Amino acid sequence: MASLSPPCTLFTTAAAAQTAVSSNSSPQPRFAKPSYFFTHAKTSPSFRVSCNARNGEQNMKNDSEGKVDRRNMLFGLGGLYGAANLASNQLATAEPIKPPELDKCGTATNLNTGEKLDINCCPPTTQRIIDYRLPPVRYMRTRPSAHRVTPEYIFKYNMAIDRMKRLPADDPRNFMQQANIHCAYCNGAYDQPGQGTLDLQVHNSWLFFPFHRWYLYFYERILGKLIGDPTFALPFWNWDNPKGMTMPPMFVDPKSALYDEKRNQSNLPPAVIDLGMTGNTDTLQVVTNNLTIMYTEMIRGNQTAEDFMGNPYREGTEPNPGPGASERGSHTAAHVWVGDPRQPSSENLGNFYSAGRDPLFYCHHANVDRMWTLWQYFLPSNKVPDKKITDPDFLNAAFLFYDENKQLVRVTVKDCLDNLRMGFDYERIDLPWLDYRPPPQTARARVIKTTSDAPLASTIFPVTLDKIIRVQVPKAKKGKADELLVLENIEVDTTKFLKVDVFVNDEDDNINELDKASYAGTYAQVPHKTNKKANKTSIRLKLTDLYDDMDIEDDDTVLVTLVPRHQGGGITIGGIKIIEAPATKSS
Ligand code: C2O
Repeated sequence: MASLSPPCTLFTTAAAAQTAVSSNSSPQPRFAKPSYFFTHAKTSPSFRVSCNARNGEQNMKNDSEGKVDRRNMLFGLGGLYGAANLASNQLATAEPIKPPELDKCGTATNLNTGEKLDINCCPPTTQRIIDYRLPPVRYMRTRPSAHRVTPEYIFKYNMAIDRMKRLPADDPRNFMQQANIHCAYCNGAYDQPGQGTLDLQVHNSWLFFPFHRWYLYFYERILGKLIGDPTFALPFWNWDNPKGMTMPPMFVDPKSALYDEKRNQSNLPPAVIDLGMTGNTDTLQVVTNNLTIMYTEMIRGNQTAEDFMGNPYREGTEPNPGPGASERGSHTAAHVWVGDPRQPSSENLGNFYSAGRDPLFYCHHANVDRMWTLWQYFLPSNKVPDKKITDPDFLNAAFLFYDENKQLVRVTVKDCLDNLRMGFDYERIDLPWLDYRPPPQTARARVIKTTSDAPLASTIFPVTLDKIIRVQVPKAKKGKADELLVLENIEVDTTKFLKVDVFVNDEDDNINELDKASYAGTYAQVPHKTNKKANKTSIRLKLTDLYDDMDIEDDDTVLVTLVPRHQGGGITIGGIKIIEAPATKSS
């Protein structure tokens, strides 16, 4: 249960840490631009390379919060399930999601047609499952930015993927077998063990980051093993930086093992990724929108850890309780942007069952995972106060994967919370969105609201979003308070790409520009079919900065505009309300 502690070294300065990581991890030096540390050192004082330093710090913090402290002690002793009862303010009666029963894996379902997929997504079954223990970290795998890799790196990566494709079809490490992991966990092939026909689903909840981290972890180790390189690290698609906003060049060479022809041909380089999916054709505006989206989903729009990570999902409960800001935002957009409109269901990346068939998927998800590490360890805690989920149903949720030695292993969420303990890190790249708070819009916002004749929210919901909707929503409180805008009882057609942007006191024009204070956030989904009906989801958008920048905190109501970016209906919002933000646990 408890894993061995890797041999860790405590680095006291970021520069020392970076040098040390580079020197033992990777054949080509990948030094951070010095400016990264100078620019960000102040706001992120705790550059933590040492796993001891991280864990030590966590424990010290927890000591001041009795409840968390006691639970952590129990985890250390292995009293995992009993620990659930200590969390009095949480749902203590539930249990964590259990790993699937592979021998009960069923057929996955195709999108659009609603028919069985022509492939079997199920992995090979085996008798022996072992509890995975993180091996000691001998080599740090430093994941490079995909736009900055050397020809030698591309050669190695290619060779590794090529070998993965040539493995016997029934080898669980084979390329299609690996792709099918995603299909099985995402397209209704697994039920929650012992819970009737309740789907096991790893998206649209707090399991999103942990599942994909483990998935990439084994994928990376398999690739490294196939080329005999224990330092091999997946590249990340640096779509949060203007220098990385095109499809990384190594993936678009038709002769490469990294190539996939099922991609949107209009979005090959030099097309710039449109994380806002607004269809805006002005490249500079698209870049500006992208940076605003990153700032909003990483910092401005979240009150609690779950707002970023996703809503709780426990055994015996319906799947898809609600995605976090990152999952529904940049993550979804990149899937949809790459998916091929010539294919019936936007294969490969535009649909969960096929996404893993495009090598770019793992590069995209490396950046998604990088966002999690940045959010955990680099964002200043005055801006993101609550970074940890301590709920045992989160920490003890488990998955199954085949490791690089074809051994089926059971892994838990709590073992994947620290990337350094898992032996991988990311190349340091500047974060241009870090200070990208939209400019204030005070006077205008007031005029817009007072002249609006939009109906009150209480009179029109539920509403199907097939056009722009404007409603007046009462604030929770007059004056200065942290408030959240809640879109509740969202019912979606899971087979469709859907996206809705939310604005507060916005004017009628320029809905394709997001770099303004009135942009509050986004709901979006990648199509995925489960053969059972989807349940209702809700999302929360933090309004604190927005109130400041629009000068509307003293008003009684605000004007909320919902802008659908997809064609037709497919999404119904049950209601909108503004609530006072719950207190955050600071981490
Ligand atoms: Cu499991 Cu990006 O999807």
